Amino acid sequence: MSIRILSTSPLVGPALRDLGARFPELRLAAFRSPEWNAALAGAEALVVMLSEPLTEADLEAAPKLKAIGTYSVGVNHLPVKACQARGISVVNTPGVLTDATADIALALLLALTRRVAEGEVLVRSGTWQGWAPDQLLGPGLAGKACGILGSGPIGQAFARRAWALGMTPVFWDRDQKGGEVDFGAGRAPRLPLPELLSRSAVLSLHCPLTDQTRGLLDRPALEQLPAGAILINTARGGILDENAAIDLLESGRLGGVGLDVYEGEPRLNPRWLQAPRAVLLPHLGSATVETREAMAQLLCDGLAAALQS
Ligand code: DGY
Repeated sequence: MSIRILSTSPLVGPALRDLGARFPELRLAAFRSPEWNAALAGAEALVVMLSEPLTEADLEAAPKLKAIGTYSVGVNHLPVKACQARGISVVNTPGVLTDATADIALALLLALTRRVAEGEVLVRSGTWQGWAPDQLLGPGLAGKACGILGSGPIGQAFARRAWALGMTPVFWDRDQKGGEVDFGAGRAPRLPLPELLSRSAVLSLHCPLTDQTRGLLDRPALEQLPAGAILINTARGGILDENAAIDLLESGRLGGVGLDVYEGEPRLNPRWLQAPRAVLLPHLGSATVETREAMAQLLCDGLAAALQS
């Protein structure tokens, strides 16, 4: 029997197994392993993770390919234009990870400003001497502006969380369109990037990595943030100039950086490990059981539609 679906992971929940029963045969093989390479030529559908970049050469090597599914909303690791040109469907998982990703951005924001990680280390170290008036103080958030790059569903979900903390959301959009964003709990303006940066006590990234957003937050952009600003990135590492962010943390210009994503992850710029006022997570944005099951179902439904067309 030929291999129709080639996946690098069983995913979470029953969705991929069910898809494999409907469209036999499903093969699981580690990305770019000899088995994966051998199965590529016969595969009609590929399933990859966000950490597994595909190239045009892979499309050449897979002449039967009808669809590529990625277990992520982000598609920056896929040759999307080449897929379009060849009539290969690209299936991703928008919508179902909106709240989970906004939650992890909120977790980073509160971990930084309320110094959660440092407090935990202090208690576990056994050296905590008890409550003190100036112990692990951080900045309050109520009444401050929260800049949000990207006014899509995740940006809006983060705006609702910032709003609930008493912050004032303001948006920037890739298409530079003006007007207000109705984020569900209120309305907020879309601002030009320099204006948004100069206002944002907190800046949270919620736009995809594209040619337009790669390196968007470079050194000059970061220097426009108010002194002590907090930066949160749960989008993609390539949007941020990480060395510039570390320099500004070290100089005290930035108040804190919370990251769930990194340029070239899982490799990490080694400077992050020593950086002060940084909270670092291992790309947990969509990591709830419900979300990962819903992502798998959405992905497999999309692949089924592509396979039967
Ligand atoms: C995605 O799915 O692209 C997100 O990065 C998950 O956190």
